[in-house]
This record gives sequence, structure tokens and C-alpha cells, in this order.
Amino acid sequence: MPKKTGNTERKEQIRSDALRKVRGRALFIEDIPHDRLLHGATARSPVPHGLIRGFLNIDEVRAMEGVRAVLTAADIPGENTVPFVKDDYPCLAGSEVKFRGQPLALVAAETRDQARAAAEALKADIEEYPAVFEAVDAMRPDTVRVGGDDNIHSSYRIRKGDIDEGFRAADIIVERIYRNSHQVHCYLENMGMTAVPSPSGGVVVSGSMQCPFYVHNALVRVTGLQYSKIRVLQAETGGGFGGKEDMPSLQAAHTALLALKTGRPVRIIYDRREDFIAMSKRHPVRTRIKYGASADGKITACEAEYIVNGGAYCTLSPIVAWRGLIHITGPYEIPNIMADSYVMATNTVPCGAFRGFGQPQANFANESLIDELAEKLDMDPLELRRKNLLKTGSVTATGQRIGESCGMEEALERTVKRISFRRRKSGDPGVKKRGMGLSVTFYGVGLGAEGKYFAKSGAQVYVKEDGSVLVAVGNVEMGQGSETVFTRICADTLGCPYDMVDVLEPDTTRVPDSGPTVASRATMVGGRAVLDAALKVRDALTRSAADIIGVRPFDISVSGHKYVSSDGREAEYIEVVRAAYARREKMAAQGWYRVEGVSFDEKTGQGDAYPVYTFSANACEVEVDTETGQVKVLRLVAAHDIGKAIHTPSAEGQIQGGAVQAVGYALYENLVLEKGRILNPSLTGYTVPTSVDVCDVVPIIVESPYPEGPFGAKGLGEPPMVGPAAAVMNAIYDACGVRVRKTPCLPEDIMEELKKIT
Ligand code: MTE
Ligand code: MOS
Repeated sequence: MPKKTGNTERKEQIRSDALRKVRGRALFIEDIPHDRLLHGATARSPVPHGLIRGFLNIDEVRAMEGVRAVLTAADIPGENTVPFVKDDYPCLAGSEVKFRGQPLALVAAETRDQARAAAEALKADIEEYPAVFEAVDAMRPDTVRVGGDDNIHSSYRIRKGDIDEGFRAADIIVERIYRNSHQVHCYLENMGMTAVPSPSGGVVVSGSMQCPFYVHNALVRVTGLQYSKIRVLQAETGGGFGGKEDMPSLQAAHTALLALKTGRPVRIIYDRREDFIAMSKRHPVRTRIKYGASADGKITACEAEYIVNGGAYCTLSPIVAWRGLIHITGPYEIPNIMADSYVMATNTVPCGAFRGFGQPQANFANESLIDELAEKLDMDPLELRRKNLLKTGSVTATGQRIGESCGMEEALERTVKRISFRRRKSGDPGVKKRGMGLSVTFYGVGLGAEGKYFAKSGAQVYVKEDGSVLVAVGNVEMGQGSETVFTRICADTLGCPYDMVDVLEPDTTRVPDSGPTVASRATMVGGRAVLDAALKVRDALTRSAADIIGVRPFDISVSGHKYVSSDGREAEYIEVVRAAYARREKMAAQGWYRVEGVSFDEKTGQGDAYPVYTFSANACEVEVDTETGQVKVLRLVAAHDIGKAIHTPSAEGQIQGGAVQAVGYALYENLVLEKGRILNPSLTGYTVPTSVDVCDVVPIIVESPYPEGPFGAKGLGEPPMVGPAAAVMNAIYDACGVRVRKTPCLPEDIMEELKKIT
């Protein structure tokens, strides 16, 4: 492992993508010009469930001004499926349509308006079926069938110890139901994709996406082309938050079909309304959870049932519900556990990945219930957490022993100290009451045992004659800072200045399949691939440095921008590069990393679910206006044990951004559906926190190094979103004595609960 450079540059470096983005030089998909560009648009289902008998006016639509192609399922040259976990999501609805907004047909036209007008004009002949919209309704045996024989997209279970024995040993038992509604990603840049036919008969697709290799796989299936005829490029991506994990595959398939059909470049960009209506969301969840504890506060048992509304197609729901389930008992050592998760099929928009991947819902339930348990035990909720927290050597719900990188206690202690945690127990006089709340979380980094097939990453590092470096990676930058992380890992390893490293646009023809950029895995897994490649080139540079200095290679180490021998003689990085070129050393290398050692037994739910965990604590102070129900989060402190911060400002930014997104989840974001129809598909109708709502978020970075990670790093992207909602709810309870067991917790919910107690 390279030594830390320890120079001042480390502190001062700004993110490598910052300048091009703030100066408007970054090119997003809409900014890239193409000759003879056609615009694509999608005709969508007006009903939530039905049988498509055909199209009533397809010839007239084909004859509309500017229209160059109209495609339906019958025109798909390959398979009519976009592969996710199952292959159930059709590229275009064939005979059955299962949700409002499902793609039925595609149009390409000379202008965007013409394309949209044509898509709008296309009339499908649909026989409407009865539909089901709620997960619990989809469970009824006599209801409408949306997916399979039982409407269960997937289910998982955990069985640990003896659950009956665990509850018998308890002095106090609490059981509650918590509910979460949808959450919309609201990335700044809507989904967008361009496809350009290539001379070889293939297609080049570029777009706003998290997972170029998923897109590549989907294009192979839908077009029937071989892998080598397809090239996928990730364009600059204006936020993803999980929303650009699965859905780009669908949009790319649509765009590519139109391009291959017309022989011209085609671009599809959704407007905000279409993006809201048809793209994935965070899953609505209903969690029933029960803790038992002895009078001294030891948790003896936990039972949980986690029911997820997956929407019409399965997409990534099984993995989301799996992650939710693995973490649902909280970051506590509990001997007896029985937990089940179900993903139900309904006639609503399919839900998918969203920062935290099922964990924000699970954590909201278990961390609210911990406070309710503390109250019944007449115990401080902080004490109750301390008593049960996971630490090195503890065993998780899946029977996994926590290894050495466990900063859970440190994260909690630093958080409560920083915010001067104290509870008011609704003791404030007056209308506006303040209170504090806590939550703790753990987060399995990467895809874990159920996604291990994708748990790999590749990279290439090329050192050029002038010492500048090109890095090709398979994991993407979407705002979270991975480009800066890869730059630093590479530069610190080679001893070169940060501004000499350029990370190339991810391109599926330049690096091997590196899995998706999800599950907070880019730093830990992609970073290891970059490190692996950089270390190989460094070997060659080290031999050259040894040559210049006149020592043996093992005597050389890298310090700052120098190669140094043990007796203190030095050669500058650039001098070493020149010597390496003179020696005809290979100045390029491929790196590879795959995650090993994870397991999961589907019968018992036991196994080493993830390679390692990030541990986090959140505490906040809120003010509740008891006359209006308005809640203001005044301060939030969040500590995360991430092993090692590779670029501290980016890591702090992730903590702050995630916390704000989570406060929105807790208090504002309310997607309203009526019979599967989204009633507020816009940023005016759906409220997200803006700069005026943002509270003071204090990030604390805890570093408990993970030896397998690059420089000791684990993952951070998602954890900041997981815990704050429960902390907010616990603080509201502390402030005014009411507990709302759902997200979002709106002013009217608080007023209703307040009425009950006054
Ligand atoms: N931060 C920004 N600014 N934009 C994003 O789209 N996505 C989040 C998180 N932070 C996201 C973000 C999600 S869902 C994930 S999985 C991680 O970043 C992915 O990046 P990482 O692997 O580098 O943590
Ligand atoms: Mo993040 S939801 O894993 O893309």
C-alpha cells in the first residue's frame, strides 16, 4: 500500500469534475450535437392494467409531419425484454399492459415536438382489466394477478436462534407498524440517451446512466446484435441516486431501436413529467416489527415483516428488499431473529434502486421502535443503543462476525458529544417546542452475497511520456465524487500530481465489465481496480528510479512526487517517467478486483452477507410548531465510519447531501397516487428541500480502516440517506410527544396526532 503523501495538496485539491461543471463546460447528453439527429418519443399506456388488442391509427401517425418511424413490440429484432433481476420487464408492452405510463410504442421524428405530438396521437385499443395498487391488497388470494401465481415478485427470510425462546426471555415486548410512501429521485438532469448507428451495423449509445454494462447487456438482448457491435458511453450524468441504475437500459433500448430502424442518430430526453410518471421510485414499504428486551435493556428477540410494493415489474426489487431485510433488525447484536420480506406486484410504476436500497425504510422502522422500546423500559434511548450495538466480534442477524473495521461506537459517541445530546421529553413551554433524536445504522458495502455475480471492477492506467496519466474505469461519476477518488488513488500510488491525471469517460469497449455503479461500491471496488493497475505501472517506475539512483528496486518508496531510496536519495516523478520510457518499460496496465467470501443461505438467511459494513450515527434537533404542525430541523450531526476518507471534502459533501435528501424523505416528499395515477408529477407539486430548507449538517468522519479497501476505505455514497428520517421522527416525539409512524410526516399528520393527546 503506498504511503500517504501528507503534502498540503491533499487538503487543497478541489474535485476534478468541479470546474467543468460550475463553468458550464461539462457536456450533458442534450449538449452534444449530432448531424441529422432525430428525436424519439414514447407512447405510454393510459390505463393501469389491460389487454392490448392493437393500435387504431398507426398508419395515420406514420404519415404525420416529420415522423420517420413508429415502432411497436412487433418490430423488436431481438427479445422483447429488458433484463434486470428477472426478465419480466418488456421493452415495449406486447399483449398485456400492467401500469399507467408503461411504454407501448416509439416514434422518431425530425423535431422533439413532432415526435411528442405523434406519440400522443397514437391510440391503442386496450381492453381494461381490474387492477390492484397496494402491496397488502396484492397479497389477497382472490385479487387480480399482476405477476406470477401469487403476486410475489420475491421473498427472503432470516432465521436465527429460537424466536419463541427469545420473546419468552423478554420482560418487555413492543410491536408496531411503520409505513413509507414513494420517494422520487429528482436528479437535476432528467433521463436522456443518444444512439448513433455505426458503420459496422452496430450502434453507439451514450447517455446519463450509472451502469453502462447493464445498458450494454440490455442492448444485446433487444437488438439481437453481438456484444462487439455495441458500444456504450456514460455521458456526464447530472445525478442518479439509484434512479439511473435500471431505467437507462430501457431508454437506451428504445433509442437504439429507433436509430437502427432509421439509420440516423436518435435522442430521447424525457421531460420532468414523463420522468416522474414512468421512471423508478423508492419503494413504498409496510414494516411490522417487534422487539423483546430484558428489563436491563438487552434485546432478546426481533421479529419483522417487511412488505414492499414493487410495482408492475420486478426490476431490482428483490435486491432492494434483500438489503432491507439484512439490515432490518438494526446494528445490534440480537440472538433470536425471525424476519421476512416480500416484494409484491401491483399495477403501479415499477420501483427500483434509490440511495440506501431498502435500508431507509427498514431503518425508519427499527430505529423508531428502539425509541419506543426505550420508553417502555424507562431507559434512555442512547443507553439502550449502547447496550446492544454491534462491535468487533459481534454477530449480525445473518450470523456474520463483525471484523476489525468497526467504528460503530466511536460514531455514536462522537455524534452525541458534538450535538450535546439531551432529551427534553416534551418539556418546552410555549407553542414552538424543541427536541432531539438519534438513530444508528450499519450498511453492507457493495452488492453482497445476492449480487456477487456483479461484484467486480476493472481499470486501465496509462502513463504518458510527459508523466500525465489516463485512467479508464468501469465505474462512473454521477456527482458523488468517484472521479476525484480514482484520480487520487492513482496519483498517490504513482507519485504524480493530481492535475496530471485524467479519468476517461466510461466506455464499455475500453474496460471489462465492471458491474454497476451502485451500492456505494465505486471507491471500495472500482478504487481497488485502479490501485491494482497503478501498482503494476509503479513497479516499472520503481525499477527505473532504482536505476537512476543506483540502488535495488526494493529499496525505493514513493513519497509525495518523488521516488526515494532508504538512504534518502531522490528522483523526481517526471525524471523517473523519462527513464522508464528510455528503458522501454510498459507504461500501461490493467487492474482487476473482485469481491470474495460472501455467502447467503436462502433457507435460513444465514451467511456473510457483505464483505464489510459502514457504521453511522445521526442526531438532530428539531423545532415543532404545535399550532401548525410545521417541523424545522435545526441541526443534524452525522458520523460515518468509512474506513478512510480518500477526499475529505467530497466525503463531507456526501454526508451533507444525503442528510438533506433524508430530511426531505422524512418531512416533505409526498408523491400522491390515485389508482396508480401520479397526481403531482412535477417539482412544483412534489416538494423537495431547497436551499432555504437546508439545515446545518455537521459531518464527522470516523476512520476505522478496512485492510481490503484502497488505503483502508469502505463505502459512503448511500449511508448518509439511511438514518436521518428516524432521528427526525424521534426528535419530533421528544419535542411534542407525538409519534408519526410514516414517511413523509406532514404537518397534518402531526396535528392529527397532537389532537389525540390534548
Ligand atoms: N451523490 C450525488 N451527488 N449524486 C448521486 O447520484 N448517488 C448515490 C450516492 N451519492 C449519488 C450520490 C447512490 S444511490 C450511490 S449507490 C452512490 O452515490 C454511488 O457512488 P459510490 O459508489 O461512489 O458511493
Ligand atoms: Mo445506489 S441506490 O445503489 O445507485
